[in-house]
Amino acid sequence: MNAKAPAPARITVPVVRARKGGERLVMVTAYDAPGAKIAHRAGADMILVGDSLAMVVLGYEDTLQVTIDDMAHHTAAVHRGLQASCAMGADRARPLVVGDLPWMSYHTTTEDAVRNAAALVRAGADCVKLEGGAKRVRVVEAIVDAEIPVMGHIGLTPQSINAMGGFKVQGRQCGEAEALIADARALQAAGCFAIVLEGVPDALAKAISAALRVPTIGIGAGPDCDGQVLVFHDLLGLEDRLVPKFVRKYAELGATAVDAVGRFVTDVRSGTFPSAAESYAASPALAAALSGVESGATALGDATLGDATLIGTALGRRAERRLSDEAEEFLAGLYGGPSRS
Ligand code: KIV
Repeated sequence: MNAKAPAPARITVPVVRARKGGERLVMVTAYDAPGAKIAHRAGADMILVGDSLAMVVLGYEDTLQVTIDDMAHHTAAVHRGLQASCAMGADRARPLVVGDLPWMSYHTTTEDAVRNAAALVRAGADCVKLEGGAKRVRVVEAIVDAEIPVMGHIGLTPQSINAMGGFKVQGRQCGEAEALIADARALQAAGCFAIVLEGVPDALAKAISAALRVPTIGIGAGPDCDGQVLVFHDLLGLEDRLVPKFVRKYAELGATAVDAVGRFVTDVRSGTFPSAAESYAASPALAAALSGVESGATALGDATLGDATLIGTALGRRAERRLSDEAEEFLAGLYGGPSRS
């Protein structure tokens, strides 16, 4: 008998590292609790709280605008969503949460880098990701030394958009390709447990993947990486400003959402929303009292609905009975508490 090994309850850094050359790893970005829940339910191995947050959620033109506080805020939301989702669906492994270190959070001193990495861990990340190759070795070593696992990211590194002159495929020339292979090796030696390869030719990604002991996670890097990552809003068809050719859209949720909100707009304007079933029914006593208010609106003069006592008295005169305690209490809560005297 060839019994299948039971799925781990939690995807950890050693679990990811051990998947090198094995079953392909799947990472997807998420920035909030519902996104985390979807990624968990769908069976993703890793959730990247990416600095793509800046573009796909916050509407900026590039990723340079988000701060470590923004990233921690969203990492915490992902963490809470995951906690809730795991409590409801304990049969699925809990994905590894990767917190993305934003631009300028690890470019000054190694002390800053370690402190900022710790801020993401305290917000709920299991590890951090940072961009850059050989020149990041010192910073990777310092963060790893503080017991925080690091995922590298080379090739098209969006935080270098100004230095690169745009979002451009990297490593097309032999010299550039050699430099990227050296970068990957340097990050591995510095202690990275996995490396994202973004926007590089497929043959180069294949060569880098074959040269490393740690898994590579590709995005726009062809099929021969140890895993793949896509941005949540891209794969669901929620982002339409910039859709690179490597994105496969698995849904058109943007169009579905516009249609749904459009139908809400139509229903409100035509008066078909809300229906009786979508409304709270009044108790018979309250309904009777309110129909008295309705028909006696003119006679009540300036009495406001907020004045439960006045209404009660007026209704007593008109309908020869006072509001029930229940109705009085309900009106007070609904229209602003105790009556004026
Ligand atoms: O921020 C992000 O979404 C990323 C992925 C593109 C790898 O870094």
